[in-house]
Amino acid sequence: MAEDIHQSEFAVDLHDVAKTYANGVRALDGVSVRVGAGEIFGLLGPNGAGKSTLVKIMMTVIRADRADGTVLGRCIGDREAKRRIGYLPEAHRFPGYLKGAQLLDYYAALAGVPRAERRRRAPVLLERVGMAKWAGTRIDKYSKGMLQRLGIAQALMNDPRLVVLDEPTDGLDPMGRRDVRVLLQELRDEGRSVFINSHLLGELELVCDRVVIISEGRVVREGRLQDLMESSPEYEIVAIGDLSGVSAPLAQLNASISGEKIRVDTIELDRVNKVIDVLRGAGIAIESVRPRRASLEDVFVEATGGNVARPVGGPSRPMRAEGGAGQ
Ligand SMILES: Nc1ncnc2c1ncn2[C@@H]1O[C@H](COP(=O)(O)OP(=O)(O)O)[C@@H](O)[C@H]1O
Ligand SMILES: [Mg+2]
Repeated sequence: MAEDIHQSEFAVDLHDVAKTYANGVRALDGVSVRVGAGEIFGLLGPNGAGKSTLVKIMMTVIRADRADGTVLGRCIGDREAKRRIGYLPEAHRFPGYLKGAQLLDYYAALAGVPRAERRRRAPVLLERVGMAKWAGTRIDKYSKGMLQRLGIAQALMNDPRLVVLDEPTDGLDPMGRRDVRVLLQELRDEGRSVFINSHLLGELELVCDRVVIISEGRVVREGRLQDLMESSPEYEIVAIGDLSGVSAPLAQLNASISGEKIRVDTIELDRVNKVIDVLRGAGIAIESVRPRRASLEDVFVEATGGNVARPVGGPSRPMRAEGGAGQ
């Protein structure tokens, strides 16, 4: 294998990718992403944002109208580079008559992994994703979460430099998501680069070293998640009493009401105090006033117009009903 695959600074470096499907849907409208070597990268955004389209272009499952750049230091579609990429497609369907261990062997054989390596890696990877005891069970008996674990093992069978996982936590319960988070960190520690697509917000997304958030085929935010969360400080005021009479003056001060909480999107104390004046003037008691950092969810909502979902059982409310998400 060529040395430049190991040495390129970026595992993925794509510029200005555009794709309009035959039905006229513009899925990507000039998206650029860079994934540093040895980094966990998250491409986040609501369903329909264009995440899978980008990954399919990278994997040459579909063709872009326009795409420039490199994957593992080579042009998109380079065969040598593709051999070093592990790929878990979204909503994958495996032949149900195969047993777990057989499936790993079969897919790795298709990817050109030599028999001795397949024999050696399959049991190690089944163990690694917590599926060792199901190795001899037919896949049509697996739950969605088990299929997803097997799919992740499948993506690792070629000892990839770059692991591309499209919605890896789809179908996993909170425990399963934690396992995947730990696995991703291990993969990074082994020096692999990880590219995950996700429409969910949760602890998995927080392990990303860097994220790009896309919405309707365009990049709307990018950076370290921690930085994105720190970039919009605000105050939260908890009040006791009926807020319905003060919604208009609060809106004028750019303060939004949710339940008994009022959010002021600034750290300007002057404006915070004006909000307090309005509340006190209306005879509303104040329980607490505190500065607050934006949550991951706030970053999403702001970036995508609220069009996002959280995993069921996650720490916060679902943003949008999502058939099967997190089940
Ligand atoms: N094969 C296809 N033909 C036509 N439209 C498609 C096709 N695949 C995806 N789309 C549309 O392209 C947009 C982006 O889809 P996709 O890349 O799957 O988004 P995501 O993975 O972020 O949910 C959506 O509007 C989707 O309906
Ligand atoms: Mg998708």
